[in-house]
Amino acid sequence: MPGLQRITASLLRTKPVEQLAAESEHTALRRSMGLTALISLSVGATLGTGIFVVLGEAAPKAGPAVVVSFVIAALAALFSALSYAELAGAVPVSGSAYSYTYATLGEIVAWVCGWCLLLEYGVSVAAVAVGWGAYLNEFLGSTIGWRIPDALAQPPGGGGVVNLPAAIVVLLATVVLLGGVRESSRVTTVTTIIKIAVLIFFVAVAITAFNSENLHPFAPSGVAGIGAAASMVFFSFIGFDAASTAGEEARNPQRDLPRAIIISLGIVTLMYVLVALTAVGAVGIDDVSSSGASLATVLEQVTGRGWPATILAGGAVIAIASVVLTVLYGQTRILVAMSRDGLMPPLLSKVGRNRVPTFNTLIVGGLVAVLSALIPLGELVNATNIGTLVSFGLVNIGVLVLRRTKPELPRSFRTLVPLVPVLGVGLCVWLLFHLPGVTWLAFGLWSAVGLMVYFGYGRSRSLLRRAGTAQPTVRTDS
Ligand code: ALA
Repeated sequence: MPGLQRITASLLRTKPVEQLAAESEHTALRRSMGLTALISLSVGATLGTGIFVVLGEAAPKAGPAVVVSFVIAALAALFSALSYAELAGAVPVSGSAYSYTYATLGEIVAWVCGWCLLLEYGVSVAAVAVGWGAYLNEFLGSTIGWRIPDALAQPPGGGGVVNLPAAIVVLLATVVLLGGVRESSRVTTVTTIIKIAVLIFFVAVAITAFNSENLHPFAPSGVAGIGAAASMVFFSFIGFDAASTAGEEARNPQRDLPRAIIISLGIVTLMYVLVALTAVGAVGIDDVSSSGASLATVLEQVTGRGWPATILAGGAVIAIASVVLTVLYGQTRILVAMSRDGLMPPLLSKVGRNRVPTFNTLIVGGLVAVLSALIPLGELVNATNIGTLVSFGLVNIGVLVLRRTKPELPRSFRTLVPLVPVLGVGLCVWLLFHLPGVTWLAFGLWSAVGLMVYFGYGRSRSLLRRAGTAQPTVRTDS
């Protein structure tokens, strides 16, 4: 059936890697970021609500073995990071996993991936903002003795009406981003240093009360509990790939992107394991398992004083705000990439005088603010995780495909194939199966809407289709 073949070919058309690279040469975005800026972008996007708040929600599922959950989630992220690093070194453009799958697996998969990334970035910003609100309230409570009432600091279904602090931090980040990337990346570097400092402070205080008896029983809920907690704390690793969304703003993307991704993942994994171990070791699993500002509560118990918790909460307020900023930045750049390819409206990639995609940033900021004001943290975290795990799985598969279809392409970094990408896919699938059914249902609906948008808008407007450069990814000669 020639008609069917034509449609299949159009769905599997890939964007030539050379074309992607050439396009990025003519980019309107400024090439201003070196290795340190890229690492700080990635660490800045990663350390946040996950360790400061989600640790407390995941701890009761696994018990002290939540430390193992962090390691498993880190491995899923590490294997995928290595795949990201290889693709980032070979396809150095903005747009992250979306661009990589466009070059390797074809347009329809790239669309699905981009659509999942809207969850990874867009929804995670909302989740992170909710965590920010919890620490803001802790900070206000411990300094001026007043907290924002629940009605204005919790979403409907979480005991309130609207989560105002979460929405406000998103809107503030939107304003900063509208000011341009140079300013934002400087802000990111400072806040990244602050958050590493407060986490080291936490470890230094908590370790003074460490008691190994608090680690028994180590895994009261067995492997199932460890898996459930891992699928939740996976959230805390999301963002390490943020550097890959800045491919077009990096001075030397081929060399620096892979390094930035791997170094930042190493830094955050070390921090998480230390924080989780010392927190549980200091006060026991029950006291870590609080919702909201759990690390501040641990410090209060350990020291019996208010000021260490105040320092931590103040640091968290600054630190988590920076995650909001960097992840929101990543989201706008993914939309720029999708829009440039004709899969989203052109207005989304239009950059203004200061080279910022203004309309895009406003729309993304507005929508994320609404989400963060109205949806509870756990649901936002799970929705983020499902979208991210799917897109990570696709990136791992993309590495295997690109090795086969473009073996000669220069790669500044090579992962170990097929072992590492296969382990990456396996771990992502394992974590996906530990997510709750309601998350899967929401994801099914989200995907259905995405496919409707693609077939109703993007497929016929795709620039690749118009340029007639469709090439099926599956080689028929072997
Ligand atoms: N990894 C980011 C955080 O933990 C999303 O806040």
